[in-house]
Amino acid sequence: MTTQPELSEAQIAVHWREEGYYPPTPKFVGQANASEPAIIERFGEVNFPECFKEYADLLSWDSYWHTTLDTSDPPFWKWFVGGRLNACYNCVDRHLESSRNKAALIWVPEPEAAPTQVITYQELCRRINEFAALLQGFCGVRTGDRVTFHLPMVPELPVAMLACARLGAIHSEVFGGFSGAACGGRIADSGSNVLVTMDSYYRNGELVDHKVKADEAVEAARALGHEVEKVLVWRRHPGEYASEAPMVAGRDFFVDEVLREYRGKLVEPVSMPAEAPLFLMYTSGTTGRPKGCQHSTGGYLAYVAGTSKYYQDIHPEDTYWCAADIGWITGHSYIVYGPLALGTTSVMYEGVPTYPDAGRVWRIAERLGVNIFHTAPTTIRMLRKLGPDEPSKYGYHFKHMTTVGEPIEPEVWRWYYDVVGKGEAAIVDTWWQTETGGFLGSTLPALQPMKPGSCGPGVLGVYPVIYDEDGAVIEAGSERAGNICIRNPWPGIFQTIWGQPERFVQIYYAKYCRDRRSRDWRDWPYFAGDGAVQAADGYFRILGRVDDVINVAGHRLGTKELESAALTVSEVAEAAAVPVMDDVRGRAVEMYVALKPGFAPDVSLEDKVSAAIVHEIGKIARPKNVWLVADMPKTRSGKIMRRVIAGISNFTDVGDVSTLANPEIVDDIRHRVQSEK
Ligand code: PRX
Repeated sequence: MTTQPELSEAQIAVHWREEGYYPPTPKFVGQANASEPAIIERFGEVNFPECFKEYADLLSWDSYWHTTLDTSDPPFWKWFVGGRLNACYNCVDRHLESSRNKAALIWVPEPEAAPTQVITYQELCRRINEFAALLQGFCGVRTGDRVTFHLPMVPELPVAMLACARLGAIHSEVFGGFSGAACGGRIADSGSNVLVTMDSYYRNGELVDHKVKADEAVEAARALGHEVEKVLVWRRHPGEYASEAPMVAGRDFFVDEVLREYRGKLVEPVSMPAEAPLFLMYTSGTTGRPKGCQHSTGGYLAYVAGTSKYYQDIHPEDTYWCAADIGWITGHSYIVYGPLALGTTSVMYEGVPTYPDAGRVWRIAERLGVNIFHTAPTTIRMLRKLGPDEPSKYGYHFKHMTTVGEPIEPEVWRWYYDVVGKGEAAIVDTWWQTETGGFLGSTLPALQPMKPGSCGPGVLGVYPVIYDEDGAVIEAGSERAGNICIRNPWPGIFQTIWGQPERFVQIYYAKYCRDRRSRDWRDWPYFAGDGAVQAADGYFRILGRVDDVINVAGHRLGTKELESAALTVSEVAEAAAVPVMDDVRGRAVEMYVALKPGFAPDVSLEDKVSAAIVHEIGKIARPKNVWLVADMPKTRSGKIMRRVIAGISNFTDVGDVSTLANPEIVDDIRHRVQSEK
């Protein structure tokens, strides 16, 4: 059951006024992939699910499917049943004939003076084949096996992903910034025998030791009863090892050394059923255990190719840059699979947008001739704060820009439009999730005008609705918020939570399912976990999570994960994580911690709690503040009232506290916290 939240991001969301529309420029419309309104009709509900043939036909199939959508086992939807294809072949091999020497990936490393790598489709194909041969020959990886990567933003990451896809093996990339412990948990959950990592990578001008985390990951997996057989270590500078961590004999291998045996080797792409899993992407949920979202081969690839074409307006001749990390779903779908399936040039970079200065991004865009740009509100806010005039110093021209991952404030949107886009670029604000594979809500850039702060209507073939807690529809234009759901399945939807099918049904479908025995998709709306409002024009404004998930700088953190991490500190008796508004990161985490009897609060304990969270999850989870409190506000049954704590942290109404078991604590905490903020 999805419980009624005690507090949610949506509840602390700022309520914006309705904004005016911005039309795209005629120049943009003239060249857009989707410029005829007929496309909207073609994807109308009467044509569902067959409309998605249009997306699937962007791919090359080894055998065509016989059933577009199989609903016989809800909500385990099956798309393009009977079809067979290989995702790597679709992203690489099939482009060779026409585009062998064209750049597939352009990689911009740190430091800035380091040479940019241009990887042609031919070169990418060679690297993938060799690494696939190594995985197969040296590690014994077979179709259906899981392989975990803990890789930073280096070309070896897409190479490894596509090598797995070539073999029909399931990759599971763990964001490089996550801790070794977090990686180990994901290795054990997926049952991967192989971990692919790198000795080091650059960030903010420093070479960060990364291999140390692999050792922690293997230990953490072992503690969960899972043994990693091989650790493949790429070297950031081949031949030079840049890590303090010793290589473990018989377990750890330098990829560049082992690869020598596989030079020039070719591996046939394995023809996979459309429904075969392509990858796992772990994300945070309402319990401490991350969920391995399992994405399909055919449905997923068709969906990211179609949405890349129509929503990001990618043409093969574009130079497209999604400045996200491939360690997140955005990078999987919209750096690697979508753009490469369309045969375009996809830029990826190492480091951060603000180092060595807030002009880096625009310099790269100018130098490479980037014409489509994709980033997150948190980056936009940061660049606006640190270099509000930087974009005007560079001679790039974007025809199109995307924002993703969090709500974007209208004034930030306007800076993105006026200053970054120079008033020329169409913007799409794309609302979606790790689970959904690709976009759910967005304007079609040439056909539907932009409205700052709103993502737009449901995307082609996706029909969202807002329900109240009882399942009644909240009408557009009512100005009432509710839970945004999707009424229908779409090809990019994840297939299940790896190894936890019951949890999959419970979390995403149980809340609004009308009849558990029904095989009609109309009875199984997808519960997204976001609060939203729909304006009279049908555009949705996403308010934030309604569950126990906090979206920090576009990254999902589970309150339970944060609290369990705090509880690893032996002095801590109780912990509660709450979201607070943050100027740059959208939301930040504040931790409230009560100590066990006999321990006095001091700064070192605050630091210890922060360190424990960084150790268990990673630096992205470091709390903005740790408040050591004498006690937590609790109900009479002993439940911590996060709503009250969040109200204090955000200087908003804490609601009725009269029924608490310890109402007096509220003023104590308020005094303490608000006087120090
Ligand atoms: O709350 C929504 C927010 O990010 C959540 C999904 O996070 P994740 O699975 O990490 O995927 C992020 C990249 C797709 C959603 O439940 N979110 C995502 N996009 C938007 C958004 N909130 C507002 N506007 C968006 N465009």
